Amino acid sequence: MTEQQKKPWQGRFSASPSEKVEAFTESISYDRLLSHYDIKGSIAHATMLGEVGILTSEETEGIISGLQEVKNEIEAGSFIYDPADEDIHMAIEKRLTALVGSVGGKLHTARSRNDQVALDTRLYMKDVLEQAEGHFERLLKTLVKIAKKELGVIFSGKTHLQSAQPVLFSHHLLAYVEMFMRDRERFKQTAERVDVLPLGSAAMAGTPHPIDRHRVAQLLGFSKVSENSMDSVSDRDHLLEFCFNASVTMMHFSRLSEELIIWMSPEFGYITLSDAHCTGSSIMPQKKNPDVPELIRGKTGRVYGNLVALLTMMKSLPMTYNRDMQEDKEPLFDTARTLLAVLDIVPDILEGMNVNREHLTEVSLKGFPTATDIADYLVRKNLPFRDAHHCTGKLVAEAEKRGCLLEELPLEVFKEASSIIEEDIYDCLSLKGSIDLKNSYGGTGKERVEKRIAALEELLKI
Ligand code: ARG
Repeated sequence: MTEQQKKPWQGRFSASPSEKVEAFTESISYDRLLSHYDIKGSIAHATMLGEVGILTSEETEGIISGLQEVKNEIEAGSFIYDPADEDIHMAIEKRLTALVGSVGGKLHTARSRNDQVALDTRLYMKDVLEQAEGHFERLLKTLVKIAKKELGVIFSGKTHLQSAQPVLFSHHLLAYVEMFMRDRERFKQTAERVDVLPLGSAAMAGTPHPIDRHRVAQLLGFSKVSENSMDSVSDRDHLLEFCFNASVTMMHFSRLSEELIIWMSPEFGYITLSDAHCTGSSIMPQKKNPDVPELIRGKTGRVYGNLVALLTMMKSLPMTYNRDMQEDKEPLFDTARTLLAVLDIVPDILEGMNVNREHLTEVSLKGFPTATDIADYLVRKNLPFRDAHHCTGKLVAEAEKRGCLLEELPLEVFKEASSIIEEDIYDCLSLKGSIDLKNSYGGTGKERVEKRIAALEELLKI
């Protein structure tokens, strides 16, 4: 075996790992995604080692320019990812040493792969969270703009997927804005916990070398330095948080997708999605399928799965680093990739959505959606709500028998049900009348919704 073929950790070993073991233990096939962050972290580490005098300025310069060269090779596509190098950290160090000579071996002073991989994933997470933030911004703006454009469109608000009460379609859309704002908030909170530098914890105990961890934090843009070297190399909480946040966000996207799919079916016909977000069937010529929302709904499963995989992987690990933790990367990368792709495409779908306004109003009339308004009317006239509910139920039965809308019942019928009902009952029976009355804070009354849109426009700087 040549020196080149030996693993950096091979000193105490008399035999190399078999090909099977190499293939089983390697992570370079996927952690190559971290190469950019690995180099960035190494440059900061080398800079600090130079500043504190652990490396001479010549050594520091040599290592940094070597790292730049490795980076260029990666960007140019000429870098060779060899499974024999095990992971991206060793592959980069090996290439560096090949380029700059034995001084490359000094880069690993006062660090280990344990704090190095913890650093790389944190740098990666910072990047992902920044991208997610940009996407959330666009998503929220898109929803608010549509809510404003469609203000006045009546929608059949549902519980149990049955007609419940009329609402403004904008109010329905703004419900999703609230969900996505909470999601965005959660990611922001996670970003604070990601923003802690683990490098310099070395294998798990710290290092005897006079390093300056705060300087590395400053160079890499971390606002905090981890307090406990053992926790630093074994903490994956922030990744779990990210996967949980992504699961909740995907759940929201999945609910929205489910609604879009239902609304698009001819039986509902509430909306049409643009052709760009649908596909046809190879056998049924009439079909236009909502594939994009379907796939979003479908991809929610893998994001949940990734969370469970990570939680399960962590649950029995003794302190501190264990190789099991290498298994955090594929679920994490998959979740980040999925989440970012979904965040990026949903605004496009919404922008391409056509709302069938008249049809929405028409179907909103079905199912006696203003029945609760009769009960509320009676309550305003001092009838206890339970009696009002009973009396209204009778009126619904009568309308059902006659095959008419509640507002089409003659006044005598109302009076028969309750003598306290007057002509003004009709004011709250129309869809618009019913909606306009819901001006309680957070309600669907047009004024309320207008105010919320204005507040959101200010918040989101639309
Ligand atoms: N590839 C490893 C991982 O992703 C890097 C850290 C390895 N550390 C070790 N002591 N074997 O977790």
